[in-house]
Amino acid sequence: MKILHTIEELKAAVSTFKSEGKKVGLVPTMGALHEGHASLIRRSVAENGATVVSDFVNPTQFNDKKDLEKYPHTLDADSKLVESIGADILFAPEVSEMYPEPDTRHFSYPPTDEVMEGMFRPGHFNGVCQIVSKLFMIVEPDRAYFGEKDFQQIAVIKAMVADQQYPLEIVPCPIVREKDGLALSSRNSLLSDDERKIALNISRSLFASVYYAKDHTLAETREYVISNINSVDGLEVQYYEIVDGDSLKSLENWDDSDYVVGCVTVFCGSIPVRLIDNVKYKTRS
Ligand code: PAJ
Repeated sequence: MKILHTIEELKAAVSTFKSEGKKVGLVPTMGALHEGHASLIRRSVAENGATVVSDFVNPTQFNDKKDLEKYPHTLDADSKLVESIGADILFAPEVSEMYPEPDTRHFSYPPTDEVMEGMFRPGHFNGVCQIVSKLFMIVEPDRAYFGEKDFQQIAVIKAMVADQQYPLEIVPCPIVREKDGLALSSRNSLLSDDERKIALNISRSLFASVYYAKDHTLAETREYVISNINSVDGLEVQYYEIVDGDSLKSLENWDDSDYVVGCVTVFCGSIPVRLIDNVKYKTRS
């Protein structure tokens, strides 16, 4: 595996793969890699002749400077993990490489980027689209892999791909969880042992609500999740929305869509750490 830091080197490496007739898979990440990221990389390695993993903490998607400052950086450990999975390239550029000039492009894909995270993290998805579109233009992958942990991010990126007509396939991958249910996240490393224990109530409440939903209305189920999580000392729900899985519009009744997902964001602990998770109530078969 090669670790590359410049766009020029990356483009040269990718064009060699393409001249060898290889399909190219791209896995965009911000590093601090864990099994969630590993599952995306494994899938790309299995499905493509060559896999590029990007490892770049993208400043333009952080609306909160403190969040950016405390974001973990673990490039040595990341490169070992990526190599052990069999990816071909780890692309770890400097900020000045990706943004030699401020990026003035503005991406807007309502309603997907306006609701939930879009409402509470203004500018976040614009930053995500800026970096992901740069990566798509540089790598020109055949497939790009994203985790359903960031459910809304996938919807926004799909909208961008349709708008910009990038000739590639977005491959959504399921959430990887700890055995006890906690969704893996780079931010979990910021939790104390006690905070980690209370954070478990997030996934537990979501899973319990799938059973609760069977004989309760959508509004009751939404309230059930919010009050369950808020009843735990140290947890505070920022939002819980039950939405259509494509448009991300909030729903009023279970029958309003055949793809229904509940998306939650919770503040955990004293710092606090902002955690997101989601659960599917209805999936298309
Ligand atoms: P990051 O948070 O590092 O996540 C990189 C990818 O890993 C995302 O597609 C995310 O959904 C996926 N992922 C994270 N935790 C996961 C889990 N527990 N199970 C499955 N997949 C998981 O998302 C970003 O970075 C950035 O916004 C990025 C797309 C790289 C743009 O900067």
